[in-house]
Amino acid sequence: MKQALPEALQSPPAYPENALPPGVQPLARPTPLVKAQSLAFLMFEKADLAATQAFLTDFGMLPVENSDRQLIMRGHGTAPLIYFARQGTRSRYLGAAFTVASEAQLCILEAEAGARRLDANELPGGGSGVELVDPAGNLLWLVTNQAAVPAQPLRAPLHPHTNCHHETRRINATVRPPLEPAAVTKLGHVVLQTIDFAGMAAWYMRHLGLIPTDVQFLADGAPNLAFFRLDLGAAPADHHSFVLAGGIEEKYEHSAYEVVDLDALGQGQNVLRARGHRHMWGIGRHILGSQLFDYWYDPDGMEFEHYTDGDVFTASHPTHYVPLQLSGIWAWGDDVPASMGVKRDLGTIFKVLRLLWQGRLTVSRLKLLGSAMSTPRPWL
Ligand SMILES: [Fe+2]
Repeated sequence: MKQALPEALQSPPAYPENALPPGVQPLARPTPLVKAQSLAFLMFEKADLAATQAFLTDFGMLPVENSDRQLIMRGHGTAPLIYFARQGTRSRYLGAAFTVASEAQLCILEAEAGARRLDANELPGGGSGVELVDPAGNLLWLVTNQAAVPAQPLRAPLHPHTNCHHETRRINATVRPPLEPAAVTKLGHVVLQTIDFAGMAAWYMRHLGLIPTDVQFLADGAPNLAFFRLDLGAAPADHHSFVLAGGIEEKYEHSAYEVVDLDALGQGQNVLRARGHRHMWGIGRHILGSQLFDYWYDPDGMEFEHYTDGDVFTASHPTHYVPLQLSGIWAWGDDVPASMGVKRDLGTIFKVLRLLWQGRLTVSRLKLLGSAMSTPRPWL
Protein backbone atom coordinates (compact mmCIF):
# COMPACT_ATOMS: atom_id res chain seq x y z
CA MET A 1 0.00 0.00 0.00
CA LYS A 2 1.28 3.48 -0.89
CA GLN A 3 2.03 5.77 2.06
CA ALA A 4 0.35 9.21 1.86
CA LEU A 5 2.73 12.10 1.21
CA PRO A 6 2.84 15.08 3.64
CA GLU A 7 0.26 17.81 3.08
CA ALA A 8 2.99 20.47 2.76
CA LEU A 9 4.18 18.76 -0.44
CA GLN A 10 0.78 18.88 -2.11
CA SER A 11 -0.78 21.76 -4.01
CA PRO A 12 -3.09 23.72 -1.66
CA PRO A 13 -6.83 23.66 -2.42
CA ALA A 14 -8.14 26.41 -4.73
CA TYR A 15 -11.74 27.61 -4.42
CA PRO A 16 -13.54 29.62 -7.12
CA GLU A 17 -15.18 32.79 -5.85
CA ASN A 18 -18.68 31.30 -6.20
CA ALA A 19 -17.78 28.37 -3.92
CA LEU A 20 -15.82 29.91 -1.06
CA PRO A 21 -15.53 27.92 2.17
CA PRO A 22 -17.30 29.47 5.20
CA GLY A 23 -15.35 32.39 6.67
CA VAL A 24 -13.25 33.17 3.60
CA GLN A 25 -13.83 36.79 2.64
CA PRO A 26 -13.94 37.71 -1.05
CA LEU A 27 -11.66 40.54 -2.16
CA ALA A 28 -13.96 43.47 -3.03
CA ARG A 29 -13.35 44.84 -6.55
CA PRO A 30 -13.88 48.60 -6.97
CA THR A 31 -15.11 50.02 -10.29
CA PRO A 32 -11.95 50.73 -12.31
CA LEU A 33 -11.17 54.16 -13.72
CA VAL A 34 -9.12 52.70 -16.62
CA LYS A 35 -7.85 49.32 -17.77
CA ALA A 36 -4.07 49.04 -18.14
CA GLN A 37 -2.90 47.15 -21.23
CA SER A 38 0.62 46.12 -20.23
CA LEU A 39 3.29 46.50 -17.59
CA ALA A 40 5.66 48.88 -19.41
CA PHE A 41 8.74 49.47 -17.23
CA LEU A 42 9.96 49.75 -13.66
CA MET A 43 11.74 52.73 -12.10
CA PHE A 44 14.59 52.65 -9.60
CA GLU A 45 17.09 54.97 -7.99
CA LYS A 46 20.58 53.50 -8.02
CA ALA A 47 23.82 54.54 -6.36
CA ASP A 48 26.00 52.70 -8.92
CA LEU A 49 24.57 52.73 -12.43
CA ALA A 50 27.59 50.97 -13.97
CA ALA A 51 27.32 47.99 -11.60
CA THR A 52 23.56 47.87 -12.24
CA GLN A 53 24.08 47.83 -16.00
CA ALA A 54 26.67 45.05 -15.73
CA PHE A 55 24.23 42.89 -13.76
CA LEU A 56 21.25 43.58 -16.03
CA THR A 57 23.35 42.82 -19.12
CA ASP A 58 24.39 39.46 -17.67
CA PHE A 59 20.71 38.98 -16.73
CA GLY A 60 19.75 39.28 -20.43
CA MET A 61 18.67 42.91 -20.97
CA LEU A 62 20.06 45.30 -23.59
CA PRO A 63 21.28 48.87 -22.93
CA VAL A 64 19.35 51.73 -24.56
CA GLU A 65 20.98 54.68 -22.81
CA ASN A 66 23.64 54.95 -20.15
CA SER A 67 24.95 58.22 -18.82
CA ASP A 68 26.14 59.42 -15.43
CA ARG A 69 22.54 60.59 -14.86
CA GLN A 70 20.39 57.61 -15.87
CA LEU A 71 20.30 54.05 -17.18
CA ILE A 72 17.68 52.71 -19.59
CA MET A 73 17.51 49.00 -20.47
CA ARG A 74 15.21 47.09 -22.84
CA GLY A 75 14.35 43.46 -23.47
CA HIS A 76 14.32 41.67 -26.82
CA GLY A 77 10.66 42.53 -27.52
CA THR A 78 9.18 45.69 -29.02
CA ALA A 79 8.94 47.77 -25.80
CA PRO A 80 11.30 50.77 -25.97
CA LEU A 81 12.39 50.08 -22.37
CA ILE A 82 11.57 47.79 -19.45
CA TYR A 83 13.94 49.17 -16.79
CA PHE A 84 14.81 52.75 -15.85
CA ALA A 85 17.21 53.89 -13.14
CA ARG A 86 18.20 57.40 -12.19
CA GLN A 87 21.44 58.18 -10.39
CA GLY A 88 20.91 58.68 -6.67
CA THR A 89 22.66 58.55 -3.34
CA ARG A 90 21.01 55.24 -2.41
CA SER A 91 19.39 52.29 -4.15
CA ARG A 92 15.63 51.86 -4.00
CA TYR A 93 12.51 51.03 -5.98
CA LEU A 94 10.63 54.09 -7.20
CA GLY A 95 7.60 52.64 -8.99
CA ALA A 96 6.02 51.03 -12.04
CA ALA A 97 4.72 52.28 -15.39
CA PHE A 98 1.78 50.60 -17.15
CA THR A 99 0.43 51.39 -20.61
CA VAL A 100 -3.16 52.45 -21.29
CA ALA A 101 -4.87 52.37 -24.67
CA SER A 102 -5.34 56.07 -25.33
CA GLU A 103 -4.86 59.67 -24.33
CA ALA A 104 -8.51 59.70 -23.22
CA GLN A 105 -7.61 57.29 -20.38
CA LEU A 106 -4.89 59.67 -19.17
CA CYS A 107 -7.46 62.49 -19.12
CA ILE A 108 -9.77 60.33 -16.97
CA LEU A 109 -6.95 59.80 -14.47
CA GLU A 110 -6.19 63.54 -14.38
CA ALA A 111 -9.86 64.43 -13.84
CA GLU A 112 -10.92 61.60 -11.51
CA ALA A 113 -7.73 60.74 -9.62
CA GLY A 114 -5.76 63.99 -9.63
CA ALA A 115 -2.96 62.48 -11.72
CA ARG A 116 -0.06 64.79 -12.59
CA ARG A 117 0.79 65.19 -16.28
CA LEU A 118 4.40 64.12 -16.99
CA ASP A 119 6.65 66.45 -18.96
CA ALA A 120 8.03 64.92 -22.16
CA ASN A 121 11.59 65.09 -20.74
CA GLU A 122 10.53 63.10 -17.65
CA LEU A 123 9.19 60.15 -19.64
CA PRO A 124 11.72 57.68 -21.07
CA GLY A 125 10.55 55.94 -24.24
CA GLY A 126 8.45 58.84 -25.54
CA GLY A 127 4.67 59.12 -25.77
CA SER A 128 2.71 60.79 -23.01
CA GLY A 129 1.84 59.91 -19.45
CA VAL A 130 0.60 60.83 -16.00
CA GLU A 131 1.86 60.16 -12.50
CA LEU A 132 0.01 58.88 -9.45
CA VAL A 133 1.45 58.04 -6.04
CA ASP A 134 0.07 54.96 -4.31
CA PRO A 135 -0.90 55.00 -0.59
CA ALA A 136 2.54 53.62 0.34
CA GLY A 137 4.43 56.30 -1.61
CA ASN A 138 5.39 54.29 -4.72
CA LEU A 139 5.04 55.93 -8.11
CA LEU A 140 2.49 54.62 -10.59
CA TRP A 141 2.84 56.00 -14.10
CA LEU A 142 0.27 55.43 -16.83
CA VAL A 143 1.67 55.97 -20.31
CA THR A 144 0.38 55.80 -23.88
CA ASN A 145 1.58 56.18 -27.46
CA GLN A 146 5.11 54.96 -26.80
CA ALA A 147 6.51 53.93 -30.20
CA ALA A 148 7.42 50.24 -30.53
CA VAL A 149 11.04 49.43 -31.39
CA PRO A 150 12.15 46.55 -33.66
CA ALA A 151 12.31 43.25 -31.76
CA GLN A 152 15.78 41.77 -31.37
CA PRO A 153 16.47 38.23 -32.61
CA LEU A 154 15.88 35.35 -30.19
CA ARG A 155 16.89 31.73 -30.60
CA ALA A 156 14.06 29.27 -31.26
CA PRO A 157 12.67 27.49 -28.16
CA LEU A 158 14.08 24.00 -27.70
CA HIS A 159 11.16 22.26 -26.00
CA PRO A 160 9.30 21.39 -29.25
CA HIS A 161 12.18 18.95 -29.84
CA THR A 162 11.87 17.23 -26.45
CA ASN A 163 11.80 13.46 -26.62
CA CYS A 164 9.03 11.87 -24.55
CA HIS A 165 8.23 8.25 -23.87
CA HIS A 166 5.44 8.14 -26.45
CA GLU A 167 6.77 10.79 -28.79
CA THR A 168 10.26 10.71 -30.31
CA ARG A 169 10.58 14.09 -31.97
CA ARG A 170 14.38 14.27 -32.08
CA ILE A 171 16.24 11.59 -34.04
CA ASN A 172 19.89 11.77 -35.08
CA ALA A 173 20.06 15.17 -33.39
CA THR A 174 21.19 16.60 -30.03
CA VAL A 175 20.24 19.28 -27.51
CA ARG A 176 23.03 21.85 -27.18
CA PRO A 177 21.63 25.07 -25.70
CA PRO A 178 24.10 27.93 -26.23
CA LEU A 179 25.97 29.29 -23.22
CA GLU A 180 24.74 32.89 -23.21
CA PRO A 181 22.77 35.26 -20.98
CA ALA A 182 19.08 34.29 -20.81
CA ALA A 183 17.69 36.80 -23.32
CA VAL A 184 14.88 38.70 -21.59
CA THR A 185 11.81 38.69 -23.83
CA LYS A 186 9.70 41.01 -21.68
CA LEU A 187 9.02 42.45 -18.23
CA GLY A 188 6.51 40.09 -16.62
CA HIS A 189 5.51 41.29 -13.16
CA VAL A 190 6.42 43.23 -10.06
CA VAL A 191 5.68 42.16 -6.48
CA LEU A 192 5.29 44.60 -3.56
CA GLN A 193 4.90 43.93 0.14
CA THR A 194 2.55 46.25 1.99
CA ILE A 195 1.28 46.77 5.53
CA ASP A 196 -2.22 47.75 4.36
CA PHE A 197 -3.07 44.91 1.98
CA ALA A 198 -6.78 45.74 1.64
CA GLY A 199 -6.21 49.45 1.01
CA MET A 200 -3.40 48.95 -1.52
CA ALA A 201 -5.29 46.17 -3.34
CA ALA A 202 -8.36 48.38 -3.75
CA TRP A 203 -6.21 51.31 -4.90
CA TYR A 204 -4.37 49.33 -7.59
CA MET A 205 -7.54 47.64 -8.85
CA ARG A 206 -9.23 51.04 -9.17
CA HIS A 207 -6.36 52.74 -11.00
CA LEU A 208 -5.33 49.86 -13.29
CA GLY A 209 -8.50 47.79 -13.74
CA LEU A 210 -6.67 44.72 -12.46
CA ILE A 211 -8.41 41.35 -11.99
CA PRO A 212 -7.41 39.20 -9.01
CA THR A 213 -6.45 35.82 -10.49
CA ASP A 214 -5.54 34.05 -7.24
CA VAL A 215 -6.15 35.46 -3.76
CA GLN A 216 -4.44 33.87 -0.76
CA PHE A 217 -6.12 34.09 2.62
CA LEU A 218 -4.97 33.73 6.24
CA ALA A 219 -6.40 31.15 8.62
CA ASP A 220 -9.10 33.66 9.71
CA GLY A 221 -10.30 33.93 6.07
CA ALA A 222 -8.90 37.44 5.44
CA PRO A 223 -7.27 37.98 2.01
CA ASN A 224 -3.57 38.75 2.46
CA LEU A 225 -1.91 38.22 -0.93
CA ALA A 226 -3.21 38.66 -4.47
CA PHE A 227 -1.88 37.87 -7.93
CA PHE A 228 -3.44 40.40 -10.30
CA ARG A 229 -3.71 40.14 -14.08
CA LEU A 230 -4.57 42.77 -16.66
CA ASP A 231 -8.11 42.96 -18.00
CA LEU A 232 -7.54 42.36 -21.71
CA GLY A 233 -11.05 41.05 -22.34
CA ALA A 234 -11.00 37.95 -24.54
CA ALA A 235 -7.23 38.19 -25.09
CA PRO A 236 -5.14 36.07 -22.72
CA ALA A 237 -3.22 37.94 -20.02
CA ASP A 238 -0.39 36.67 -17.83
CA HIS A 239 -1.60 35.05 -14.57
CA HIS A 240 -0.06 38.05 -12.78
CA SER A 241 1.49 41.34 -13.87
CA PHE A 242 1.26 42.79 -10.37
CA VAL A 243 1.31 41.13 -6.95
CA LEU A 244 0.61 42.54 -3.49
CA ALA A 245 1.59 40.65 -0.34
CA GLY A 246 0.42 41.76 3.09
CA GLY A 247 3.31 42.00 5.57
CA ILE A 248 5.14 44.18 8.04
CA GLU A 249 6.75 46.78 5.74
CA GLU A 250 6.33 48.68 2.51
CA LYS A 251 8.86 46.98 0.25
CA TYR A 252 9.77 46.01 -3.30
CA GLU A 253 9.90 42.22 -3.22
CA HIS A 254 11.00 41.33 -6.75
CA SER A 255 10.37 41.83 -10.43
CA ALA A 256 10.27 39.09 -13.05
CA TYR A 257 11.40 38.84 -16.65
CA GLU A 258 10.41 36.22 -19.19
CA VAL A 259 13.03 34.18 -21.04
CA VAL A 260 12.71 31.84 -24.03
CA ASP A 261 12.55 28.44 -22.34
CA LEU A 262 13.84 26.21 -19.55
CA ASP A 263 17.26 25.82 -21.20
CA ALA A 264 17.59 29.62 -21.20
CA LEU A 265 16.96 29.59 -17.42
CA GLY A 266 19.67 26.97 -16.99
CA GLN A 267 22.32 28.49 -19.23
CA GLY A 268 21.46 31.94 -17.91
CA GLN A 269 22.21 30.63 -14.43
CA ASN A 270 25.63 29.43 -15.63
CA VAL A 271 26.40 32.88 -17.04
CA LEU A 272 25.27 34.75 -13.91
CA ARG A 273 27.23 32.38 -11.66
CA ALA A 274 30.35 32.69 -13.83
CA ARG A 275 30.16 36.49 -13.67
CA GLY A 276 30.06 36.40 -9.86
CA HIS A 277 26.45 37.45 -9.25
CA ARG A 278 24.56 36.29 -6.17
CA HIS A 279 22.00 33.52 -6.66
CA MET A 280 18.85 33.54 -4.54
CA TRP A 281 16.50 30.67 -5.42
CA GLY A 282 15.86 28.20 -8.21
CA ILE A 283 15.45 26.54 -10.55
CA GLY A 284 11.94 25.42 -9.60
CA ARG A 285 8.29 25.63 -10.57
CA HIS A 286 5.79 27.93 -8.86
CA ILE A 287 2.28 26.70 -8.06
CA LEU A 288 0.24 29.90 -8.53
CA GLY A 289 1.13 31.05 -12.05
CA SER A 290 2.97 27.78 -12.82
CA GLN A 291 6.17 29.49 -13.98
CA LEU A 292 9.55 27.82 -14.01
CA PHE A 293 11.67 30.29 -12.03
CA ASP A 294 15.21 31.30 -11.08
CA TYR A 295 15.83 34.24 -8.69
CA TRP A 296 18.92 36.47 -8.52
CA TYR A 297 20.12 39.43 -6.45
CA ASP A 298 21.27 42.58 -8.22
CA PRO A 299 24.39 44.33 -6.80
CA ASP A 300 22.23 46.08 -4.16
CA GLY A 301 20.50 42.89 -3.01
CA MET A 302 17.25 43.58 -4.91
CA GLU A 303 15.57 40.45 -6.25
CA PHE A 304 15.19 39.73 -9.97
CA GLU A 305 13.44 36.65 -11.33
CA HIS A 306 13.89 34.86 -14.65
CA TYR A 307 10.81 32.84 -15.62
CA THR A 308 9.29 30.88 -18.45
CA ASP A 309 6.13 28.84 -19.09
CA GLY A 310 3.64 30.91 -17.08
CA ASP A 311 -0.17 30.57 -17.11
CA VAL A 312 -2.40 32.97 -19.05
CA PHE A 313 -6.12 33.67 -18.54
CA THR A 314 -8.80 35.70 -20.26
CA ALA A 315 -10.93 38.17 -18.31
CA SER A 316 -13.77 35.67 -17.86
CA HIS A 317 -11.73 33.22 -15.78
CA PRO A 318 -13.05 33.35 -12.19
CA THR A 319 -10.93 34.48 -9.26
CA HIS A 320 -9.71 31.59 -7.12
CA TYR A 321 -8.96 31.58 -3.37
CA VAL A 322 -6.10 29.58 -1.88
CA PRO A 323 -4.89 29.29 1.74
CA LEU A 324 -1.65 31.23 2.29
CA GLN A 325 1.19 28.84 3.14
CA LEU A 326 4.91 29.15 2.53
CA SER A 327 4.83 25.61 1.17
CA GLY A 328 2.36 26.77 -1.49
CA ILE A 329 4.87 29.09 -3.18
CA TRP A 330 6.58 26.35 -5.16
CA ALA A 331 5.75 22.90 -6.48
CA TRP A 332 9.28 21.56 -6.80
CA GLY A 333 12.87 22.73 -6.97
CA ASP A 334 15.39 24.05 -4.50
CA ASP A 335 14.17 24.71 -0.95
CA VAL A 336 12.77 28.19 -0.39
CA PRO A 337 15.49 30.46 1.07
CA ALA A 338 15.23 31.30 4.75
CA SER A 339 14.88 34.99 3.82
CA MET A 340 11.35 34.28 2.53
CA GLY A 341 10.16 32.76 5.79
CA VAL A 342 9.61 34.29 9.23
CA LYS A 343 12.50 36.52 10.32
CA ARG A 344 13.39 36.99 13.98
CA ASP A 345 16.30 39.44 13.74
CA LEU A 346 16.40 42.65 15.80
CA GLY A 347 15.41 44.88 12.88
CA THR A 348 12.30 42.80 12.21
CA ILE A 349 11.33 42.75 15.88
CA PHE A 350 11.70 46.55 16.03
CA LYS A 351 9.50 46.97 12.91
CA VAL A 352 6.82 44.72 14.39
CA LEU A 353 6.85 46.51 17.76
CA ARG A 354 6.49 49.88 16.04
CA LEU A 355 3.54 48.67 13.94
CA LEU A 356 1.84 47.23 17.02
CA TRP A 357 2.38 50.51 18.88
CA GLN A 358 1.02 52.49 15.91
CA GLY A 359 -2.04 50.24 15.76
CA ARG A 360 -1.28 49.22 12.16
CA LEU A 361 -0.82 45.55 13.10
CA THR A 362 -2.58 43.40 15.70
CA VAL A 363 -1.10 40.52 17.67
CA SER A 364 -3.68 38.13 16.21
CA ARG A 365 -2.78 39.12 12.62
CA LEU A 366 0.91 38.79 13.43
CA LYS A 367 0.28 35.24 14.68
CA LEU A 368 -1.71 34.37 11.54
CA LEU A 369 1.09 35.73 9.30
CA GLY A 370 3.68 33.82 11.29
CA SER A 371 1.87 30.49 11.06
CA ALA A 372 1.21 30.94 7.31
CA MET A 373 4.89 31.56 6.60
CA SER A 374 6.19 28.62 8.69
CA THR A 375 6.51 24.90 7.87
CA PRO A 376 7.53 25.13 4.21
CA ARG A 377 8.50 21.47 3.76
CA PRO A 378 8.74 18.45 6.11
CA TRP A 379 12.56 18.46 5.90
CA LEU A 380 13.01 22.20 6.58
FE1 LIG B 1 7.60 36.34 -9.37
